[in-house]
Amino acid sequence: MPAVVVLGAQWGDEGKGKATDQLGGATDYVVKFNGGNNAGHTVVIGDDTYALHLLPSGILSPGVVPVIGNGVVVDLEVLFREIDDLTARGVDTSRLLVSSNAHVIAGYNRTVDRVTERFLGARKIGTTGRGIGPTYADKINRIGLRVQDLFDADILAQKVAGALAQKNPMLVKVYNRRAVTADETIESLLQFAERLRPMVADTPRVLNDALDAGRTVVFEAGQATMLDVDHGTYPFVTSSSATAGGACTGSGVGPTRIDRVVGVAKAYTTRVGEGPFPTELEGPEGDWLREAGGEYGTTTGRPRRTGWYDAVVVRYASRVNALTDLVLTKLDVLTGLDKVPVAVAYTVDGRRLDEMPDNQSDFHHAVPVYEYLDGWDEDVTAARTFDDLPAAARRYVTTLEEMSGTRISVVGVGADRTASLVRHDLLPR
Ligand code: GDP
Ligand code: IMO
Ligand code: MG
Repeated sequence: MPAVVVLGAQWGDEGKGKATDQLGGATDYVVKFNGGNNAGHTVVIGDDTYALHLLPSGILSPGVVPVIGNGVVVDLEVLFREIDDLTARGVDTSRLLVSSNAHVIAGYNRTVDRVTERFLGARKIGTTGRGIGPTYADKINRIGLRVQDLFDADILAQKVAGALAQKNPMLVKVYNRRAVTADETIESLLQFAERLRPMVADTPRVLNDALDAGRTVVFEAGQATMLDVDHGTYPFVTSSSATAGGACTGSGVGPTRIDRVVGVAKAYTTRVGEGPFPTELEGPEGDWLREAGGEYGTTTGRPRRTGWYDAVVVRYASRVNALTDLVLTKLDVLTGLDKVPVAVAYTVDGRRLDEMPDNQSDFHHAVPVYEYLDGWDEDVTAARTFDDLPAAARRYVTTLEEMSGTRISVVGVGADRTASLVRHDLLPR
């Protein structure tokens, strides 16, 4: 009954989509448990490239049941656009299940996301503008709209009226925007209701029954540990639980059922949006890494900020997620460097810190302490076993493994589904 969580160990875009897709063939269910269409996962299968946002990457594997869990926030228009795009490309989306408890993103939440960012000015978060934060805020504030509300017109009308009683004064008086009407909100949601109805399910029950029956369930995180609302670089975070605990609350499966927690980390680091990033490279080295790694956002197209591997960050991710395995991606991108810097600790105001500071201001001032590992020149993209890698690349991986607190079980050497080498199987047998 393997239950395997796949999550980001850095600031997102580590290659979670590819890692989940690789497990797809051996998986029965893939559940997305947090986030929404702020995520962007690219999966490359031969000549076909798929960019997924709201749907779990497992949807690309025939036979897998993809599940949108209760912890996700759903933009219905995006959901059906993504389903239609995939269907047009021959992907079978008919097994998709959507939790009746998942929250839906209303148009006013997208508006609030954008105007709040503008209002914050220099203190902005750099959100994706998809309404994610305001929708989670409504959930916590107990004025959110859930998938099940779309099937009861009276309840929906009451809830929308209740939400707008709070939103409209803010939109009009604080942000100088027009008031939103209940009718336009209800209409924009209800247009999708009948199409959604057959997909709606008691997904915690479905997933627990599947585990009881010995099926394999993969829990696919959006975002990453350092963007987690509790454990990330708050306030420069997303608004959901992207860490291992979120897999449980966001799916309705208890922690004692989880067998493995797999962290995905790049062989270097990237970040999109604002917030601290100690190993960030500004200038030509950062530009080189961005171009070499194709580091432009899957969702917004924004250039990603780039920097060296930060072992302090991945050690932290190992700890707060109790990682059992790491997937190290994009090793191929580092080919051609003479030396590869890796951060092993920080100094803050002259003090050495070997672990993540628990004070945000310290992290903002953290200066990396680097070790310089030997680089390699050989092309590694054709490597399919660990021994195929040049000695310096092998040493890079084993040194990162020692520094990062978790074994590196899979190494990525290219974007394609097949471009990985497996040192330890991710699915327990
Ligand atoms: P996610 O959000 O964690 O799923 O990651 P993204 O899909 O946003 O970004 C990862 C990018 O790296 C995608 O374009 C992938 O196709 C690509 N990728 C994943 N693994 C590898 C790898 O090992 N090597 C290379 N060169 N690209 C990879
Ligand atoms: P995947 O799943 C990278 C970042 C945004 C912003 C912050 C808050 O592809 O790894 P939000 O719209 O969520 O309120 O924005 O979080 N962010 C991501 N960065 N990858 C992602 O997803 C992200 N999802 C959100 O850039 O800094
Ligand atoms: Mg991404």
